[in-house]
This record gives sequence, C-alpha cells and structure tokens, in this order.
Amino acid sequence: MPLDPNPRTSRAQFLAWLAIAPFAWAASALLQRLRSRDRPEPVMIPPDVPLGLSVSGDIVLNRSADGSLRAFSARCTHLGCKLERVIDGVVVCPCHGSRFFADGRVAAGPAVRALTEWRVRPNAQSGGWIVDAG
Ligand code: FES
Repeated sequence: MPLDPNPRTSRAQFLAWLAIAPFAWAASALLQRLRSRDRPEPVMIPPDVPLGLSVSGDIVLNRSADGSLRAFSARCTHLGCKLERVIDGVVVCPCHGSRFFADGRVAAGPAVRALTEWRVRPNAQSGGWIVDAG
C-alpha cells in the first residue's frame, strides 16, 4: 500500500491497521496451532527397550539385535483399536483379531494395510531414541 502524503489519510490508515492487528494476530496464532497439531509429537524412548516386538503406550517397537529400532503406530489399521499385545512374535488386535508382523505388514486380517511407521532418531543425551509419532 503506497504511503499517502496526506496526514489525515495516513492517520486513518494507521487506525485501520490498528483495528485489524488483533484479528491478524489471532488468525496467525490459530494457524500456528493447527499446524502444530499436524506435526509429529516426539516421544522419548529409553535405551532399555527389549529385543523384538513390544508395545509401549501408543507405539509398537521393534528392536533388532543390531541395536536398531523401528516404531509403528499402535492403532490397528482396520478400525483403529489400540494394539496392546504381542503373541507369538506378532502384534494382535484385541477387537477383530488382525495380526501384524514385526515390520508392520499385515499377517492376518481383517486389516489390509500395514501399520503406520514412524521416524526414529537416536537420542544422544539418553542413549535411547526419539520417535516422531504423529
Ligand atoms: S480394529 Fe483391529 S482388527 Fe478390527
């Protein structure tokens, strides 16, 4: 917006901007909040995760003998029930019995989609990991 040399118009423009500023600030804060909801929530995983498959809160963990860790959502891809148990090396859904392999693939339906895998990064401070669960 070009500056108007007329002081009266400039004052009116300033007041108009002043009136709009709270709404612009509120809209910006709302957008930022909505964006942060989409951002993955980092979860700290301690270094003492047992080998193989385990479920910790909302995360299915698969720790390999080489020390690497994979993390998956503990929500069943059939209808979203919480996965809580590992039986005979597969994760079992308590609702309708879907089973998932350690790499997240479906071992038995009714689910047809693999578990959602989340990014895992080492946590240099704790010696564990950080999972970007989202
Ligand atoms: S919700 Fe898991 S099998 Fe249906």
